[in-house]
Amino acid sequence: MNILILGSGGREHALAETFLRFGHSVFCHPGNPGMLDCGSPLTDKQIPLDDFEALATEAKKKRIDLTVVGPELPLSLGIADFFQKKGLALFGPTKNAARLESSKAWAKEFMLRHRIPTARFAICSGASMAYKAAQDLFCQGKQAVVKPSGLTGGKGVVCCDSMEEAEDAIAAASGYGEEIVIEELLRGPELSLLALSDGTKAIPLLPAQDHKRLYDGGLGPNTGGIGAVAPVSFVNAAMMERIEKEILQPTLAGLIEEGIDYRGVLYFGLMLTEEGPKVLEYNCRFGDPETQAVMPLLDADPAELMLDCLRGHLEPEKIRFLPLCACCVVLASSGYPEAPKTGIEIRGLETLQGNPNVRVFYAGVAKDLDAKYVTSGGRVLGVTGLSPTLQGAVDTAYASIKQLKVEGSHFRTDIGKEVC
Ligand code: AMP
Ligand code: GLY
Repeated sequence: MNILILGSGGREHALAETFLRFGHSVFCHPGNPGMLDCGSPLTDKQIPLDDFEALATEAKKKRIDLTVVGPELPLSLGIADFFQKKGLALFGPTKNAARLESSKAWAKEFMLRHRIPTARFAICSGASMAYKAAQDLFCQGKQAVVKPSGLTGGKGVVCCDSMEEAEDAIAAASGYGEEIVIEELLRGPELSLLALSDGTKAIPLLPAQDHKRLYDGGLGPNTGGIGAVAPVSFVNAAMMERIEKEILQPTLAGLIEEGIDYRGVLYFGLMLTEEGPKVLEYNCRFGDPETQAVMPLLDADPAELMLDCLRGHLEPEKIRFLPLCACCVVLASSGYPEAPKTGIEIRGLETLQGNPNVRVFYAGVAKDLDAKYVTSGGRVLGVTGLSPTLQGAVDTAYASIKQLKVEGSHFRTDIGKEVC
């Protein structure tokens, strides 16, 4: 089949590699140099991802059988609705369904309506209401999390230890829009579940763990995600059953009750608290870097699974995985996340080629005029190690990423430590 992947990050490269592994022809837009090694560019025109008309025209020209959308923005703007009207198969939720990610306020109210466990919250229209809500939490001896309601590229959330921090975070959140969610800080291990949804059921892929903070030990600023492992050993069958019963099924039942036909990936960001699993966030797309850990383990044709979702007939027994574990460590450019340095040469990539237990997924990578690889963004690339054991996967990923030389770059040295 001809598969079009929209986006240009490590997640999209991992998706491209998975489709290629199952014999499909991959087209990318805009792609990155790694994705273009897996497939062809859709077009040489510079079409932005919100120009649906132009994208659909190019997709028709290339006889694309299935389009997969990486980032949330085009989904939140209605690319699925547009492609559907044009008779093009696209794996991803409609604009209405994507509100689970594009409005944190809407998502929190949805959870409240359907009794889905989540942190206690207040939806605030403006900074002064947000200060008051944060102050109430601190007065009760709790800590506050400040979240702009709209899309922030995964970087807008701040967990605050003090009211002073909350004040700064609220001032920063106001820059993203009026609506701010203030919620109670929860504690416990985090878990990401990417589930395939066919409108009536959501079947989870392997449980993964992301690492959001920039530095070892969960210190430093929140990032879009700086390393991931899958599967996660602390999620046993009993916990999975509880998550399905208390979170996945009520979410799908809630969507159906509200007339929302969700077909695509539904990402559950969960925290396993002492009171049980709770939802931190929903995303309407594949997670990054979780996808760089989960997709190399998939042992089923992704095109078949996605088309089954679009037809409304996903068969859970078709979703199979290799008996392996994966660890993805992200190499970040100096200055990430505030002001990542670009144009810095990436050396050592050739040493990782040909190793069957290693995948290198490009993200902020470009080729300069001399065809040298250079950094072009904050998360430069992800190195995924594969092994029958999680410790083996961690060791493989670290042995590999250490071969790369990128001046001033940084990676965490404790990815997977919590689960090994
Ligand atoms: P979100 O975009 O809502 O997932 O938030 C990004 C990250 O902030 C999460 O992965 C958590 O690490 C952290 N976070 C969000 N909400 C909370 C919360 N209520 N309690 C503790 N940490 C949180
Ligand atoms: N890794 C978190 C996300 O994709 O939002």
